[in-house]
Amino acid sequence: MDPILEARGLFRFQTVHGEQVPILKDVSFRLEPGSFTTIMGPSGSGKSTLLHLLAGLDSPSAGDVLLGGESLAQADEDRRTAIRRRSIGFVFQFFNLLPDLTVAENVVLPLLIGGERPDRHRALVDELLETLGIARLRDRVPAGLSGGEMQRVSIARALVTRPPLLLADEPTGNLSSKAGEEIVALLRDVVSRFEATVLLVTHNPRDAAAGDRVLFLHDGVLDPGHSLEGDVGVHAVHARLEELGI
Ligand SMILES: Nc1ncnc2c1ncn2[C@@H]1O[C@H](COP(=O)(O)OP(=O)(O)O)[C@@H](O)[C@H]1O
Ligand SMILES: [Mg+2]
Repeated sequence: MDPILEARGLFRFQTVHGEQVPILKDVSFRLEPGSFTTIMGPSGSGKSTLLHLLAGLDSPSAGDVLLGGESLAQADEDRRTAIRRRSIGFVFQFFNLLPDLTVAENVVLPLLIGGERPDRHRALVDELLETLGIARLRDRVPAGLSGGEMQRVSIARALVTRPPLLLADEPTGNLSSKAGEEIVALLRDVVSRFEATVLLVTHNPRDAAAGDRVLFLHDGVLDPGHSLEGDVGVHAVHARLEELGI
């Protein structure tokens, strides 16, 4: 079976004070369908830069990303947008909800942007709101919701187009410890329920430990040889961080 996503030799440079600084250095890995993978990396290690490349929101300096076997490097801007809409749901640390829209309107927004009629997807929207425990909030605006509730809305929004892949950028970074734990559990639940594949990046060892596979990113370097697999405990994550000198 084709991997859902394949990163091949990704490099990303940024110009800092007139100098080309490498942010990502030769990053390669694959995500198998139905997997729940986490990338553990400290602040500034390149996690957000990597997710933007994987989603085709930014272009690598070298290397390629294949989504469902299709190359982003070989696609033009329009095609990249089409691939992204078809393949990816994105969950952000700061939720990125539109303040003037209700919860339900925020959730269906990707359908509208994709030129679809939300009324055709009412059953799915209801199921998402139920599954994420936010059905009672459907007519509320985001202001006044808790961080955990806002993140549930943003997960529902990310799933409404039924993307095969969910990319989550520090989804618990702005939440209390308890709300964060619930969000990670929900994301795990969602993988099996909606048959999605999840890639979650985090600087939190507890969140990282929720992955069936944990990859480590340090100063833009990701060595799949250092990954942990199986029922990964938080102690194993801490031990590997120490080993890697992170
Ligand atoms: N647009 C940019 N210009 C210059 N440096 C950047 C830019 N974006 C990110 N960086 C640098 O790249 C590194 C990785 O950033 P980022 O991907 O945001 O890391 P993380 O998400 O792991 O905290 C950091 O050192 C950051 O300062
Ligand atoms: Mg980041």
